[in-house]
Amino acid sequence: RKRAVVFISGGGSNMMALVQAAKAADYPAEIVGVISDKADAGGLAKAAAEGIPTFAFVRKDYASKDAHEAAILAALDKLSPDVICLAGYMRLLSGTFIQRHEGRIINIHPSLLPLFPGLHTHQRAIDAGMRIAGCTVHFVTEGMDEGPVIGQAAVPVLSGDTADTLAGRVLIIEHQLYPQALRLFAEGKVKMEGGKAVGATASDANPKS
Ligand code: GAR
Repeated sequence: RKRAVVFISGGGSNMMALVQAAKAADYPAEIVGVISDKADAGGLAKAAAEGIPTFAFVRKDYASKDAHEAAILAALDKLSPDVICLAGYMRLLSGTFIQRHEGRIINIHPSLLPLFPGLHTHQRAIDAGMRIAGCTVHFVTEGMDEGPVIGQAAVPVLSGDTADTLAGRVLIIEHQLYPQALRLFAEGKVKMEGGKAVGATASDANPKS
């Protein structure tokens, strides 16, 4: 099984979806560690309760972004991950960091990229008058939320939706999409080559309705 380390900043519901998926005997990845940039991230306790090693690296404990990332990279060296899954990790990784783990960092973002990268994505989708919304799992490259797409899933935007109600609807499909995308990657069915996702077609990662 491939070794996956999950990065979180918050509640960790996507991280837990990966943990639950990895309990299946035929799942091709195991979660070998959870790293947070927040000491009080709710997901840390959930991971610890599953017996998963957890690590918090709080940015203000380090003099610079470089020093912060160096500490995380050192922890990663010990965990020797085959794949790093960003799951609500709200900090941009540097080019140096990404190059050290080139092609093996994936992220989930709660919009249909390339629409609405960055923050406040649900409110922006509503303000734009979108009638569908969704989520994307993609390879991480230096640009924020820009890397090649592995899979996507969509939900309707309903009249009366607020950013919160839409976020809740999208989160449900995030929990389906992420384990499927990690499965594809861990099985070697999709990889990043020449800045593109190659192998399994994107739809192979999409939850079937
Ligand atoms: C998820 O909706 C995830 O897609 C989003 O944060 C939430 C984390 O929830 N990520 C981003 O916005 C990254 N830019 P979780 O901690 O319960 O998984």
